[in-house]
Amino acid sequence: MKNIISLFIGLSLTTAVNLHAQAEEYEPEDLIEYRQEVMGAIKGHNKAVKAILEGKVPYDGHLDMHMASLEALLGRAGELFPEGSDFGETNAKDAVWDNPDKFKQSVEKAQNAFASFQSVLAKGDNSASLDAYKKFGKASCGDCHKSFKKKDD
Ligand code: HEC
Repeated sequence: MKNIISLFIGLSLTTAVNLHAQAEEYEPEDLIEYRQEVMGAIKGHNKAVKAILEGKVPYDGHLDMHMASLEALLGRAGELFPEGSDFGETNAKDAVWDNPDKFKQSVEKAQNAFASFQSVLAKGDNSASLDAYKKFGKASCGDCHKSFKKKDD
């Protein structure tokens, strides 16, 4: 029991130290660039799913891979916006850090929208899947970008 408790204390200390390090030791521009690269990866998988569903490419066998990647990436989206990464060449609005609860809700909404899309896709009806794809785009990428991302210059 004692060991478990010290393990817990150890873990929470490690987390606190990590979060601290994130704010102080990493360059904002590196954090921002990383975030944008990961968003770019999300876009890539998202567009690949669309091309497959529209029947433009013969890669039905890749669908699972792109969906698994999207799920994993969206699952981590909230981690891409640490304190201190709001300063520099970013298109993220201040609202991400000024209104963290709303931002968190937006991340969760995107994850839920993904889950709904995934369950329609699993039924294998192509036109229903395309509709669900569009809904997912609006309720995840679209919804969050509207509130939290500046338009590209
Ligand atoms: C919870 C909020 C949120 C969700 C969900 C989200 N994004 Fe983003 N996205 C952002 C923010 C904020 C930025 C601006 C990041 C920056 O410039 O630092 C961004 C930036 C981007 C960029 C630009 C990256 C670059 O190179 O500058 C692309 C592309 C992108 N998102 C695609 C998507 C796609 C596609 C989806 C949906 C599958 C999605 N995003 C879902 C918040 C979100």
